[in-house]
Amino acid sequence: MTDALKILVVIGSPRNEESWTYKSIRMIEAAMAERTAVDFDYIFLEKINLPYCDGCLECITVGDHACPEYATIGPIAKQMDAADGIILGAPVHTFNITGLMKNFLEFFMYKRNRPSFFGKKAVVTATASGGGHTVVMDFLEQTANAWGCDVVSRMGISSSQMKKDKYLSRVEAVVEDVAETFIAEIRKGELGSPRFRHLMNFRAMQNMTRNQKNSVNFRYWEERNWLDAEYYTQVPINPFARAMAGYIARKMRNSTRKGNQKPYR
Ligand SMILES: Cc1cc2nc3c(=O)[nH]c(=O)nc-3n(C[C@H](O)[C@H](O)[C@H](O)COP(=O)(O)O)c2cc1C
Repeated sequence: MTDALKILVVIGSPRNEESWTYKSIRMIEAAMAERTAVDFDYIFLEKINLPYCDGCLECITVGDHACPEYATIGPIAKQMDAADGIILGAPVHTFNITGLMKNFLEFFMYKRNRPSFFGKKAVVTATASGGGHTVVMDFLEQTANAWGCDVVSRMGISSSQMKKDKYLSRVEAVVEDVAETFIAEIRKGELGSPRFRHLMNFRAMQNMTRNQKNSVNFRYWEERNWLDAEYYTQVPINPFARAMAGYIARKMRNSTRKGNQKPYR
């Protein structure tokens, strides 16, 4: 008998248990439970009363423990660390992610500078009455990737269609697929291979960190030998993507050094 898979879910809808975000992730839980033992934990962001991130940057300059909200954020970070998989789910509000989820993710900004979730699998979901799923899922995926997670599946649902049998059966098919993929990827336990955008993100963080000598981030990268590496983990990298990322990173570094960057318009 294998241990139950521990899944931590973050619900970014202010409607908590009433939300389609929650209800659709419960469908994923049920589909996973039919296949294997699972232990789901839900964090409802509306209930944890996080104030707005005040932008103090202490998490970056001093350490995550220096965050004014560490009493809330610290235990959640530990829960994420202990989980086999993470699900981030949020609705579309005004063409974008909810402020609730965005604010929560600001508190984990330091994990972009000091990622640690390598090999951890993640699923992202978005709920909208009409559209806008891609913006939300792209953002959640980018965030989870920046923490080190491998995003193995995504699911976007239209809440206005959920009471229609034909649509619901389509969602159920996707739910089955998400559940199967999530379990298989967690059980496989392999590090994901980086795509070009992951390599570019790594290079951008590397350039930034190299310029922050004596900082917490610099020491973190130095200890892991990332300052001169091609990627965070030792995984096979597509040679063309590796060469392109290296070339663009060198150009970016030179242009920053010379002050050649242009203001954005
Ligand atoms: C403030 C607000 C803004 C919204 N903006 C959009 C939108 O831009 N596009 C859309 O398709 N639905 C929009 N909706 C509808 C929600 O996406 C929909 O009600 C969804 O079911 C919410 O997810 P939940 O059920 O998990 O809370 C909006 C809802 C609210 C309350």
